Amino acid sequence: MSKTASTNVFSEIRTILSPEINLPKSLKINTRLKMDGLELLSKIPEETIPIVFFDPQYRGILDKMKYGNEGKSRGRARSELPQMSENVIKQFIKGIDKIILPSGHMFLWVDKFHLCQGVSNWFTGTNMDIVDLIVWNKKRMGMGYRTRRVAEYLIVLQKLPKKAKGVWKIHNIRDVWDESIMNKNGHTHTKPTDLQSQLICAVSNEGDVVVDPAAGSFSVMRASNQANRNFLGCDVNG
Ligand SMILES: C[S@@+](CC[C@H](N)C(=O)[O-])C[C@H]1O[C@@H](n2cnc3c(N)ncnc32)[C@H](O)[C@@H]1O
Repeated sequence: MSKTASTNVFSEIRTILSPEINLPKSLKINTRLKMDGLELLSKIPEETIPIVFFDPQYRGILDKMKYGNEGKSRGRARSELPQMSENVIKQFIKGIDKIILPSGHMFLWVDKFHLCQGVSNWFTGTNMDIVDLIVWNKKRMGMGYRTRRVAEYLIVLQKLPKKAKGVWKIHNIRDVWDESIMNKNGHTHTKPTDLQSQLICAVSNEGDVVVDPAAGSFSVMRASNQANRNFLGCDVNG
């Protein structure tokens, strides 16, 4: 091995292999499961999953802090979705921490408010640490009392031990990602399929299982299938 190769932190291969997962019959992969995400997480064997996406439904906090505003119809659509309290979000993160493989990843969607306020306390008592941040430019102007929102933020967390070499195998993903979405299904929170698919390819192998316990429009299922991975996820609304 050359000197450069031995000191390089980058690698295009994954040395981590996922174990075979024995799931209860009720947890069908590549299906839009209708159930509570905490129940789903509790049924997945520990330390088996290389990658989890989590996009909490926390609109209630935004309302309370009056940080943002938005058009009436979009606001109404959001408030009709089941909300998650801080305590519930922490329970989800504890459940996710349990099922992720050592050095596996969790991708956490947050808005401007949570990015500024900080969400570190959500990970207290877990084995996960923040390792990166991606800005998604939605290429569509949203609302805001002061500036108009065009971005959302994806915090990248890794379960200990933290390392990139032998784990993260795609090195041309930009940390500002432009992707428009056609919101055909009408879900107000749909996230970008191509970005999620690239991230799935970076930190898992073909055939691995990708988890999303609060899947909304199931964009992570589309991203997983696009990347030839299996998807396991649910939404309380189905
Ligand atoms: C922000 S949206 C997810 C959007 C998704 N990332 C997408 O791309 O479409 C959050 C979702 O969490 C769901 N939800 C709220 N509480 C839940 C729970 N306890 N279990 C599962 N899903 C829940 C809501 O119904 C909502 O669809």
